[in-house]
Amino acid sequence: RLPDRVTLVEMGARDGLQNQPEILSAEIRSELINHLARTGLQRIEAGSFVSPNAVPQMAESHKVFSLLHRQPGVTYGALTPNLKGFEAALTAGADEVAVFASASEGFSQKNINCSIAESLQRFYPVMEAAEKHGLKVRGYVSCVMGCPYDGDIHPAAVAEVAGQLWQMGCYEISLGDTIGVGTPLKAKKVLEHTSRTIPISSLAAHFHNTYGQALANVFALLEEGLAVIDSSVAGLGGCPYAPGASGNLATEDVVYMLHGMGIKTGVNMEELLKAATFICDQLGIPSRSNAGFALSSL
Ligand code: HMG
Ligand code: MG
Repeated sequence: RLPDRVTLVEMGARDGLQNQPEILSAEIRSELINHLARTGLQRIEAGSFVSPNAVPQMAESHKVFSLLHRQPGVTYGALTPNLKGFEAALTAGADEVAVFASASEGFSQKNINCSIAESLQRFYPVMEAAEKHGLKVRGYVSCVMGCPYDGDIHPAAVAEVAGQLWQMGCYEISLGDTIGVGTPLKAKKVLEHTSRTIPISSLAAHFHNTYGQALANVFALLEEGLAVIDSSVAGLGGCPYAPGASGNLATEDVVYMLHGMGIKTGVNMEELLKAATFICDQLGIPSRSNAGFALSSL
């Protein structure tokens, strides 16, 4: 039942950098993305059009877009929390956008300063504008396996929010284990609930690796037929509003696992390692990818 091919959605330049203590210039961020686009990754999140007061690391995302050497076949996406963000993303030349909601009220308030219901209301004008301009909209649901403020989250609450994003026209819903607390059977439960209204082919796994569970959780969902996975080069990542959460599942680790199982990704590991080395050197930090570390030591 495992898929033959998996689509990876690269988070390094967005989720990966949004919580780094160091604020990188638009030049360095675009250079990272240009590296990533040479690896064979076809979907890359390039920035966020959010309040620069809230997330200064993502300021100047328009400049990042202007400096891209666009590769044919690569989609460069951006986060847009509201219409203001959408308009900025459109002007910058984003190929697609993403709205982001939470399965928990506590995280919704801290992250985007409004309730879940209010956030969904803010997304309608984004959906309308996106449709008018022919841009696809991805939807995220955060805290699908636990919330740093509200604790445990029931899969039905995840399915409810995911279903609403789907209904309003998001083409894909990415299920975010924002603080990386999930374990494989819980991940399967979340998928089971959400896939009652959304086809599995339109769901993605966005798992953080705080407790070392991300790869196991991904494998659990591959077994159910899920075939879109969010990951981040060098395992970078974290959310400013999710204290203690560590990086996303590392792209190198998931590529190593998938290729080892004969599942295609289209990603060239050598090029990926170059991108990881580039960004880790810029940040002055070691890679958080086990496979990346091992392969770089060979
Ligand atoms: P707010 O303060 O409620 O918004 O923030 P507001 O409408 O009252 O506006 C306040 C100020 O922000 C105004 O400026 C607006 O113009 C400005 P002022 O008049 O005071 O000078 N503003 C904006 N500026 C730039 N771009 C915008 C924008 N909108 C308003 N789009 C808001 C609400 C959502 C804007 C704010 O809370 C925010 O930007 N939050 C950022 C949240 C964020 O980026 N979090 C990280 C990404 S989510 C994530 O990481 C999870 C994910 O990875 C999945 C997972 O792991 O679970 C996706
Ligand atoms: Mg995330």
